[in-house]
Amino acid sequence: MAASPAGLNVPPQRLRLRRPDDWHVHLRDGALLELVAPATARSFARAIVMPNLSPPITTVAAAVAYGARIRAALPEDSGFTPLLTAYLTDTIDPAEIERGHGEGVFTACKLYPAHATTNAAAGVTDLARIEAVLAAMERIGMPLLIHGEVTDADIDIFDREAVFIERHLAPLLARYPGLKVVLEHITTAESVAFVRQAGPNLAATITPHHLHINRNAMFQGGLRPDFYCLPVAKRERHRLALRQAATSGEPCFFLGTDSAPHPRSAKESACGCAGIYNAPFALESYAAVFEQEGALDRLEAFASLHGPAFYGLPVNDGHITLVREPHTVPPRLHGSTLVPFHAGQVLPWRLADDG
Ligand code: DOR
Ligand code: ZN
Repeated sequence: MAASPAGLNVPPQRLRLRRPDDWHVHLRDGALLELVAPATARSFARAIVMPNLSPPITTVAAAVAYGARIRAALPEDSGFTPLLTAYLTDTIDPAEIERGHGEGVFTACKLYPAHATTNAAAGVTDLARIEAVLAAMERIGMPLLIHGEVTDADIDIFDREAVFIERHLAPLLARYPGLKVVLEHITTAESVAFVRQAGPNLAATITPHHLHINRNAMFQGGLRPDFYCLPVAKRERHRLALRQAATSGEPCFFLGTDSAPHPRSAKESACGCAGIYNAPFALESYAAVFEQEGALDRLEAFASLHGPAFYGLPVNDGHITLVREPHTVPPRLHGSTLVPFHAGQVLPWRLADDG
């Protein structure tokens, strides 16, 4: 905090940050892509775009075409670069992955355990089936991004991340010590502790929603589909551990919104989809957390520096400015199609329009 002339601490009114990136986002396709891509491009220079479309992105050609559709959904001067990912299946060809990486099309591969989440039916049923892919990725330095949850029906949904680490992630890291791995959208104190002790080849992204809500949010006065996502939010002690990790300044934790829009009709249904649409005010949402934790001076490292360092990419050239200007998040967006995270709430910081 800046010191006032009288020696009193006054909260800052403006924050200038190197332009950040979103290391985990769902931009979808078609009409929904057109609606949501501008929100991500407004705040972020680059984003790791998830490949769980229908059908999923499993070939270089499909990724090239998807990248073109993303760019077409944005103004020409947006300055936004989508970083595309390959969706791993049991039968994906390691040569296709390697070629896509070599040609600069695939930045990373995404591992969804089969049936773990939205459009994950074609995911991996057994890590033993993708050994050749993992060995190739380790050799060429291509990061593996993991949705870290087991899918066994007999494992309680609140334990699925912890069991994944024990059964699958720890053995995977031991088998491929040179493989760069991102454990995406971590939700537990155990994940925080595991990532901390694992060494420089493991990192984790943390979403804004897992920093703001615990599992009670889903049941506040009734069933609240807008707070349902996967991995599902956990107990308060886990939220507090995530806040501590995100604001700690440790390079193994960085920004990944997991913004995952679904139309209201798909959320507010008898079998509602998992996903929270946080892209419109994601940066403002993180800024609120960092301020509450007295760590605004560490927001830039979390949002703009740790991710590029892990991925071996340069940091962005430009800067953005956040201004202290409390504003109410709209309850609905795009003709009531989408409900944004923080709907109807006041956020203290706003991204300045002129950057
Ligand atoms: O809540 C989620 N929504 N978690 C995921 O892992 C996938 C995402 C989606 O694509 O809807
Ligand atoms: Zn996701």
